[in-house]
This record gives sequence, structure tokens and C-alpha cells, in this order.
Amino acid sequence: MKIAILSRGPKLYSTKRLREACKDRGHDAKVLNSMDFSINVEEGYPDLLYKNRRLPNFDAVIPRIGASITFFGTAIVRQFEQMGVCCLNSSLGIITSRDKLFSVQFLARHNLGIPQTIFVKERAAILPAIQKLGGAPVVIKLIEGTQGIGVILADTDTVAEAIIETLHSKKQNVLIQQYVSESKGKDIRAIVVGNKVVASMRRRAKGDEFRSNVHRGGTVENVQLNEKYEKAAIRAAQIMGLSVAGVDMLEGKRGPMIMEVNSSPGLEGIEKATGIDVASEMVQFLERQCNIPEIDLRQRLTQDKGYGVAEIHIMKNSDIIGKTVSEAGFRERDIVIMSIKRKRTTISNPKATREILLGDTLLCFGKLENMESFIVKSRTRRRRKKE
Ligand SMILES: Nc1ncnc2c1ncn2[C@@H]1O[C@H](COP(=O)(O)OP(=O)(O)O)[C@@H](O)[C@H]1O
Ligand SMILES: [Mg+2]
Repeated sequence: MKIAILSRGPKLYSTKRLREACKDRGHDAKVLNSMDFSINVEEGYPDLLYKNRRLPNFDAVIPRIGASITFFGTAIVRQFEQMGVCCLNSSLGIITSRDKLFSVQFLARHNLGIPQTIFVKERAAILPAIQKLGGAPVVIKLIEGTQGIGVILADTDTVAEAIIETLHSKKQNVLIQQYVSESKGKDIRAIVVGNKVVASMRRRAKGDEFRSNVHRGGTVENVQLNEKYEKAAIRAAQIMGLSVAGVDMLEGKRGPMIMEVNSSPGLEGIEKATGIDVASEMVQFLERQCNIPEIDLRQRLTQDKGYGVAEIHIMKNSDIIGKTVSEAGFRERDIVIMSIKRKRTTISNPKATREILLGDTLLCFGKLENMESFIVKSRTRRRRKKE
């Protein structure tokens, strides 16, 4: 394949390793600087220029988009997607994972374990937010920080309040987060490729530092994850829409607490700590991904009027509880059930004989109008209770 590695640093460890891995597997790889592209948006002919020349054809793209160029970098990836070129991570996945608020909002509903996080804008809301987290110490984070920069541990409520006020006055968006003290100074980085964890390490902060980032002097060691941590990492990457991700987790009292999901995880620390050829794992996955490229469902589905994807929650008054998929009459009403979410498991492509239970969430594709007949109306949308 002809592979473009989008990176501004051809000499960076990760870029070099990816290039090597492509070559070792018989591909022709070129490192291209995202900033040298021009995007040509023309009806029917989405195109890209590179250094003002027409870009030769590529079969696949490995995006390594730095945090400082998220906007332009993801626009280039999006353009490759429009051109039908297979991208190792999607532009949407990269954008979603870049924003720490966006990420925890997405992750929170799936019960994977995240540190409780509050976002406020008004001065009057700062102290109540800190208190809602149980008071200081709390962690304060810039929404788009990386490498530990913009992550502060505040020891007292008043210091926390003052820091947040200062950042607000500088027009910065900040998160206030519960400090997971039992994980002090260490965390887990799991590299997810496709639907497996290919390598994982524990990072330890230097001295009194609480941030374990390698860029902050943290050290790394190989670690074997148990199933709970592996599952959480894989699911987190999947929820963020990333095929390749570095998932950072704190070791909480009750198990993993996901802090963030990185779309361009650095390879140096992890390859050195584990001895695993992560770059090659990524390239091998790319080869497979290109055979069945990911598609953006929203763009495809709108073609047929009135069809779409919706979730049907099976609530108390539903008259299909206890019926099988076939008895419930979905097919007759032009609806296909793609999956059933039942507690913590998901049943993909349920058979016609599968029984529908109270509490199930059915992910369906079909005539939206007909789906309404399966939805039991409740006057107010109840909030989910804490477990
Ligand atoms: N809520 C928290 N509790 C304890 N330690 C934390 C918490 N949030 C972050 N840390 C520490 O700070 C480091 C950096 O935080 P992170 O959110 O990953 O930001 P960055 O994107 O800058 O790496 C983490 O790797 C972890 O060691
Ligand atoms: Mg991090």
C-alpha cells in the first residue's frame, strides 16, 4: 500500500518507527506535514494539494495530529475520508478525544469508571463545585492540555477557587476533578489497537510530582493488565471512535478510572517499557482496516427518507416485554434490531428467537415513524440514579 504518515516531526521516535514498520511490511510510506496541505472543497471532487502540487494517490493514512494543530490537522484527515482514503483514526474520533470535557461526557454514561468531574463558568458556582467533589484536594485541568501541562493539584478550597478564577479571567475553560489519591503519582497507559490491548505500562511520577506523564519526568514499566482494565481501555477507545488509542487510567479503589483517551499515543515510552513492536501492530491493523473501511453512518443513512437509527428503551409499560424479537413484530414494521444492550453486555445481531426484557435498550435501524409505536412515553425524562 501507499501510506501517508501525517506528522510534523519526521525525526520523532514515533514517526520514524511507524515509517520503519510500514517499510518492513512492504509498504511505501511517506511522511507528510499536515501544515503543507491545501484543502480543495469542490463538489464531487474532494481533493488535496501538497506543497501546492496535486497530491499523488494514497491508499491509507496514519494521522499523528499534534494538539497544537487539531483544527487544521483533523480537517486534512476529514478530507482524506471524503476522498475515500482509509484513515487509521477518524477525524471525529481525534476531535472528540482532544477535548477533556467532551471525553468524560461521552465516557460517563457507559459506567466504565471516570473521576467525577464538574465544569462551571460562573464565579459563584466554583466553590459549590469544589464542595460537591468532597472539597480539596481537587484536580484542575485545562480542557485541551497535554503532557501534564495545565493539570494542577490544589490542596485547599480557597487555592482551588483562586486558580480557577484566574484561569477563567484568562478565558480558559477548566475542569474541576475529583483527586484520585489512592493512585497518587502513578497511572496506567494501555495502547489499544483495533479491539485489543497490544501493550500496557505503569507510569510513575518523579519525586513529589502527582502527574505521571513521561514529559514531566515520569518513569515507565511494563505491566500486565487484568481483564477489567483491558475491557475498560478497549471500550473507552471504541466509545471515542478511535481504532488506535492510548488510554490513561488511574488505579482507583474500585478499579480503573479513565482520565483520557489519546488519539496519537507516543510510542517511545511504551515500546521501551514493554519491548513490543507497537508500530507494527498499528500497521498490521491498518492493512485489515482498509479491507473494511469505517463509514460514517450519518452520511449514508439520510439518503433514504424516513429511515434512521434510534434506540428503543424497554420500559415498564412496554407490551413487548417477554416477547421474542420475531413476535414483537419489528421486521413487519420495517425495523431491524442491530443490537440489544442488556445491563453490562451487548447482544449483537440478536436472533429472531431472542426474548426482549425489561430494561433492554434496542439499537434499531428502520422506518423512524414506525419506531415511535414501540416507544413508551413517559412525561419526564428521569435521571439515572447513582449505583
Ligand atoms: N483526577 C486525578 N487524580 C489523580 N491524578 C490525576 C488526576 N488527573 C490527572 N492526574 C495525573 O496527572 C497526569 C496528567 O493528567 P491528564 O488528564 O492525563 O492530562 P494530560 O493530557 O496533560 O496528560 C495523569 O497522567 C495523572 O498522573
Ligand atoms: Mg495524559
